[in-house]
Amino acid sequence: MQKILLTGGAGYIGSHTAIYLLEHGYDVVIVDNLSNASRKAVDAIKNITRKSFKFYRADVRYKTALYKVFRENKIDAVVHFAGLKAVGESVDKPLMYYDNNLKSTVALLNVMKAYNVTRVVFSSSATIYADPDSRLYNEKTTKVARATNAYGTTKVMQEYILEDTVNGAEFSDAGGLKVMSLRYFNPIGAHESGDIGENPNGIPNNLAPYITQVLVGRREYLSVFGDDYDTPDGTCIRDYIHITDLAIGHTLALKYLFSLTGAHFDAINLGSGKGSSVFEVIKSFEKAAGAEVPYKITGRRAGDLPETVADVQKAKNILGFVTTHTLDDGTLDSLNWQQKHPNGFEELD
Ligand code: NAD
Ligand code: UD1
Repeated sequence: MQKILLTGGAGYIGSHTAIYLLEHGYDVVIVDNLSNASRKAVDAIKNITRKSFKFYRADVRYKTALYKVFRENKIDAVVHFAGLKAVGESVDKPLMYYDNNLKSTVALLNVMKAYNVTRVVFSSSATIYADPDSRLYNEKTTKVARATNAYGTTKVMQEYILEDTVNGAEFSDAGGLKVMSLRYFNPIGAHESGDIGENPNGIPNNLAPYITQVLVGRREYLSVFGDDYDTPDGTCIRDYIHITDLAIGHTLALKYLFSLTGAHFDAINLGSGKGSSVFEVIKSFEKAAGAEVPYKITGRRAGDLPETVADVQKAKNILGFVTTHTLDDGTLDSLNWQQKHPNGFEELD
């Protein structure tokens, strides 16, 4: 059985990927410092899958902690989710973001090298793209550029660190580093059980968790950040991808890396290829809830682009990845999780 180390595996995307891997014949080990996750997410993974796995509460920046994990487990591949991800916070505290996100990647690579572990899937983001020259964001033709915020810039820099290491000689004796950087678009949804889901700290920055908190009465109304964009209904368009589809994408990426010999770097979009506007997302949630989502139109949010939608051809060609969940599946599952646990994991205290 292949053993996959998930850094940041107690978080939103990591926990759902852990469930999928455990249910599909993999063993997992999770390392997470719980800076943005609850210990209860780890328990929920165990309860949902009825499988046991090792969890280490540790910071990926510190090699001593990582050495212990690699010494105690024969790791076959890594999925590196660990990272800070709040855009606004990263503008206020860039050093904290560079320190956490860059140091963790460098430490991880060094320890992987020491243990001859040569396969890693990386959590990248659509945020690394500059304005696209066509409607869809394409891995080859859309420029990657320094982002408008430190969070996004750490993702660009981490891709460079990974690619340079693939091209360098440090992993040569181990057979070459193999990296798949997955550029996620907008994750939505939760496990079908409703017993694990997105659990943001404080006021949610992202659209779906904000709306679900409005729908369970934790917040009064949604602020729609602008209805004067050059889009059909004036609100921004995003590509929402169900969290289970994302988990499947990681599993396919791992399979792909296991099929390779020699050094390799590639970056692939994970999206649905379909754009939905803020108003369409609101409508989908209203259908799921059978209730209205109260909202007010406010000003545009700095840094928002009118439309970001993935070109999904490469994911299909290389990984055989296609999404099977719709936006309605995503909003229904997000709402189900929030209704079962109105206060997220606090509820289980
Ligand atoms: P999340 O915050 O729920 O999960 C990240 C996890 O990493 C958390 O559990 C946190 O405690 C842990 N962590 C952070 N720094 C750590 C460190 N130094 N050592 C150990 N653990 C650490 O976020 P998520 O939404 O699950 O995102 C996972 C990854 O995907 C992140 O790298 C994020 O930047 C990236 N990503 C997320 C989105 C999104 O919209 N959710 C979009 C694109 C990319
Ligand atoms: C945001 C980040 C991006 C990050 C992504 C996933 C910014 C500028 N961008 O992208 O870097 O990779 O999250 O974590 O922060 N919206 C509202 N009201 C809200 C929240 C959002 O109208 O309360 C709108 C936004 O304007 C946007 C859409 O909903 O049009 C989706 O927003 P969000 O979930 O924050 O995702 P992104 O904007 O794609």
